[in-house]
Amino acid sequence: CGIVGILGKGPVAGQLVEALKRLEYRGYDSAGVATLEGGGRLTRLRASGKLKNLEEKLAATPLAGAIGIGHTRWATHGKPTENNAHPHAAADRVAVVHNGIIENFRELREELTGRGHKFASETDSEVVAHLVAERLAAGDAPEAAVAAALKRLKGAFALAFLFDDQPDLLIGARRGSPLAVGWSVDGAYLGSDALALAPFATSIAYLDEGDWVALRRDGAQFFDAADMPVERRRLPLTPGSFLVDKGNYRHFMAKEIHEQPEVVGRTLAHYLDLAEGVVRLPFELNIDPKSLSRVTISACGTAFYAGLVARYWLERFARLSVEIDIASEFRYRDPPLPDNGLMIVVSQSGETADTLAALRYAKEHGQHILSIVNVETSTIARESDTVAKTLAGPEIGVASTKAFTCQLAVFACLALALGRARGVLTKEREQELVAELVAAPGQMAEALSREAQIEPVARDVARASSVLYLGRGPSFPLAMEGALKLKELSYIHAEGYAAGELKHGPIALIDYAMPVIVLAPPDASLEKTVSNLQEVAARGGHLILIGSPRARDAAAAELAGYIEMAESVAGPFAALVYAVPAQLLAYHVATFMGKDVDQPRNLAKSVTVE
Ligand code: G6P
Repeated sequence: CGIVGILGKGPVAGQLVEALKRLEYRGYDSAGVATLEGGGRLTRLRASGKLKNLEEKLAATPLAGAIGIGHTRWATHGKPTENNAHPHAAADRVAVVHNGIIENFRELREELTGRGHKFASETDSEVVAHLVAERLAAGDAPEAAVAAALKRLKGAFALAFLFDDQPDLLIGARRGSPLAVGWSVDGAYLGSDALALAPFATSIAYLDEGDWVALRRDGAQFFDAADMPVERRRLPLTPGSFLVDKGNYRHFMAKEIHEQPEVVGRTLAHYLDLAEGVVRLPFELNIDPKSLSRVTISACGTAFYAGLVARYWLERFARLSVEIDIASEFRYRDPPLPDNGLMIVVSQSGETADTLAALRYAKEHGQHILSIVNVETSTIARESDTVAKTLAGPEIGVASTKAFTCQLAVFACLALALGRARGVLTKEREQELVAELVAAPGQMAEALSREAQIEPVARDVARASSVLYLGRGPSFPLAMEGALKLKELSYIHAEGYAAGELKHGPIALIDYAMPVIVLAPPDASLEKTVSNLQEVAARGGHLILIGSPRARDAAAAELAGYIEMAESVAGPFAALVYAVPAQLLAYHVATFMGKDVDQPRNLAKSVTVE
């Protein structure tokens, strides 16, 4: 979920909605605002569904208050109805917006119900409003009421409060989920991230873990978890940073797919010494690569698949053993971690709750933490020993595209740097491999120029109710990523499988109704992949090949679709380039079916709950 609060000079409802639009990547199944109207009366307006429903309501019933809070939701407890939409209020005294989960809400709700409180929603969040209202009724000032309520809450959350008859006060609190404070000559702001505040604020400060803040037009008072006053550093927010627009594209996702040659090139340039043709990491690893015993990788979703591709590279180029797991499973396995181990966490947003928990587990178990993140100010970045940033720029489309290929670019550089430092790669071999990497952005641009051949394939795939993606080596995780993109965007069931595993089960599914998309770059496993493709052909399968003419000729099978890739995209980094047709295919299937590609149903870009 995304939260925002504004103390302005004039009506703030419009700005609240503008900030919420920039937070929609955190969820978009309902939204709401609360302001103080005529003489300080707490007033709420909420709507289920996308933000535009709230905008329509606001157009019909304008709010004039100069102070307010807002929320865009990704449902955890309770359906995305208007009643469950935030802000939640209690006794008309206080309204709250909440991101995260209150783990002990059942207990608290029971306790409060026992004392006569009536609940209006099914959410975990509403208990917070009631706890605060109860303290206010007992005579506490707002600050004391919030401080007392915070002590009763278990879980990870960010909160913003607005009080009846308090036209110059917002209170924000952070435990586990990020919260920022912003300032400008026109007002003071609270928001889930800098992106939300970028259009308004000229400077910004982050709450530390456990902090809460009392924000007034003329200043902010920060307190730590023990309610002691603290100072938090204020940083300038440069105008024009976080520029977010679609340019000439129909969707953010299309723009982001097409930006890849540029942002991958930029990311590579950050990690390479282009004159020497070698990797030059812009940071020191505080661990000797030679004594490194193991690399552990953890992440969620697309970032996890980037890690799976990277495993091939780290094993092959750096001769490192790699353990990898999805973040939501990793720490619950209680995995033993070695001395001198390196933990790599991967996250576009840097805020994914599961990934953060995996990081913390690894830290407790003595690992050196390196994070590959796109948002440098994120919690994951701040809790890491070393930050390797992807230079993808803001990614707005909910389905990750450019962040993924930039993660791959960073991983590739890291694998080569470690390989060199561990004495596995000679300088000459490193230079050859770097030359292949440097060719990738151009190859991606070339793959993008072939977009027209993807449309007929997309129309074909759009008719299916289930799709299988196959690949070997680094193309195996890419097959899973291709399948993930297709299901996220088009809601067509899809699975990615190791091509060699086909015969151990999924082959039973083969019939002409189920397209089988084979990713077959001309690499060392081409012949084996082609054999698997023929196993599908022999059973009357519906084959679609993404590969070079060599793969097509070797297949010698009837293809229902063919996406041609250049013969030169052949090396170990082919996955970077083959990601492009996989993304474009999912994009075109979904747009052909009329789906909302930038905001697929039920998803959120940044999932800050476990
Ligand atoms: C969500 C998004 C995915 C994303 C995953 C990890 O589930 O829908 O697209 O890959 O989170 O996000 P992160 O920000 O940690 O990379």
